Amino acid sequence: MPTSPRTRRRSGSSAKMSPHVRRNRRAWERWADPYEAKHRKLLRSDSGMGWGVCHLPESELRLLGPVRGKRVLELGCGAGWWSIGLARKGARVTGLDVSPRRLAQAREEMARAGVDFPLVEASAEAVPLPSRSFDVVFCDWGALTFCDPYRTVPEVARLLRPGGVFAFSNSSVLRTLCQDRRTDRMSPRLRYDYFGLHQVAFPEEVVFQLPTSEWLRLFRENGFVVENMVEPRVPEGARTPYLTRRESTWGRRWPLEVLWKLRKTRKASRPSGI
Ligand SMILES: C[S@@+](CC[C@H](N)C(=O)[O-])C[C@H]1O[C@@H](n2cnc3c(N)ncnc32)[C@H](O)[C@@H]1O
Repeated sequence: MPTSPRTRRRSGSSAKMSPHVRRNRRAWERWADPYEAKHRKLLRSDSGMGWGVCHLPESELRLLGPVRGKRVLELGCGAGWWSIGLARKGARVTGLDVSPRRLAQAREEMARAGVDFPLVEASAEAVPLPSRSFDVVFCDWGALTFCDPYRTVPEVARLLRPGGVFAFSNSSVLRTLCQDRRTDRMSPRLRYDYFGLHQVAFPEEVVFQLPTSEWLRLFRENGFVVENMVEPRVPEGARTPYLTRRESTWGRRWPLEVLWKLRKTRKASRPSGI
């Protein structure tokens, strides 16, 4: 029986959001419907639980692990395909997104699926939920792509209980360096500087990337240890609405994306050496 899920609007005034969050929210309000129309079929396959542009099944990668009874937060849940799949596996899910239109899509899909869990309208840079209230925090090309990691990684560390899992997928650093920021086209050469990577502006949105050593430093300083890092190769002959033929060819030579699995330890550690 379809239920009527709750949505808490906790973002406050959008004036309080950072300029990049406001810009990305406007972009996602425009993109929400065409994005779902294009990607829905892939996103809902494998019960909604597939990672990245080729939708690699969680049942094989096991980045989240068993979720039954666990408190799980998805940061940038979109239309909620992942969260619906996890709720069906017995997780106690909360979906968070900054875009009202995306949350409306999630409400529709939840009603169709007959599941109910809280939805929160907020930016992942300032999550209006209590500390240590989750066992798992994750996203699949979600808020970690669109938010400043110097704000979101400490937020995730605050939200997780010690021993909790933080998993996310994002662009690889190589892709960020080779993708033309005006046209989106991939090239086989490094176009941009590696040192100083942080905020990356595209015509309509702003995304974030760090040099790999800087990601590792940020994780350590916020009490995370890396349990897994996956750089998937695009499978031979893969067909996905996320990739043009040119991008698939690129992704056979270099990793387009990266998947991280981290675990929250009891305390932060300072890097040794330089
Ligand atoms: C590429 S979608 C990923 C969601 C889902 N995995 C999917 O493929 O539909 C990115 C999502 O991040 C959300 N997002 C962008 N900026 C955000 C922010 N600051 N806080 C929370 N969510 C954000 C967008 O609204 C969008 O729903």
